[in-house]
Amino acid sequence: MNVIPSPRDRAASLFQEQWTIYRKMVDNNYLFHHEAYGCLRDLILRNAPRGFSFLDVACGDARGTIGVLDGTPIGRFIGIDLSAPALAVARKTTATLDCPVDLIESDFRTALKSIKGQIDIAWIGLSLHHFANDQKLPILAQLRHLVGREGLVVFYENASPDGEDRDQWLQRWDLQQSLWTALTPVEWHAVRDHVRSSDYPETRSAWIALGHLAGFSQIEEMMVSPTDLFRMFALRA
Ligand SMILES: C[S@@+](CC[C@H](N)C(=O)[O-])C[C@H]1O[C@@H](n2cnc3c(N)ncnc32)[C@H](O)[C@@H]1O
Repeated sequence: MNVIPSPRDRAASLFQEQWTIYRKMVDNNYLFHHEAYGCLRDLILRNAPRGFSFLDVACGDARGTIGVLDGTPIGRFIGIDLSAPALAVARKTTATLDCPVDLIESDFRTALKSIKGQIDIAWIGLSLHHFANDQKLPILAQLRHLVGREGLVVFYENASPDGEDRDQWLQRWDLQQSLWTALTPVEWHAVRDHVRSSDYPETRSAWIALGHLAGFSQIEEMMVSPTDLFRMFALRA
């Protein structure tokens, strides 16, 4: 078993200590949040029942999801994140929602086990890749349990085309440096160090295989980022 030491500490560090850098990356759409969250909104509008429950796994400041949920008939919002500063912002961001909001400060692997009730849509944006392949499976299986037969799990994560290994994916990540002009060299290297120590992409086929092993039978690739560094999948029982 490939166990990566201290994922909690490493994975949370970029958000907790380098919040400004991550916001810069999002605000400049370097990770294609605009397209990913647009795709998520389309999925919600097409699939979510009136009064639907939405689970945001590793919600961060919830700024992306709040734009997605605007004007939808949401009935319950649950967000989970390790980072207290991120959740402090999320508390303000989600105050505009006209439904019960539950923000949980916890490792989502623990928090997911204590969530009660049906989840209609579970979303993970750029967080599952902090885990090794065999550590991703129980998380997806827990989400499959939470959404039951009717719900939907959607994730947008680091991904490779089939045949590419992690080193090759990291080499392609490095090609972003000349394009990410909003980052100073120090900021770029902070992000690069984080990605090299904490990010574990899966190939397209490996993500789909994990989904099947977790108990999903319908798995649809919804989006590939223009850089081909990230992919979005929608999974149903
Ligand atoms: C790259 S940000 C993604 C934020 C947001 N979902 C997005 O799409 O931009 C990763 C987030 O995952 C959180 N995180 C990482 N590992 C976590 C874990 N095991 N449990 C809960 N939150 C975690 C971090 O605190 C951070 O807010």
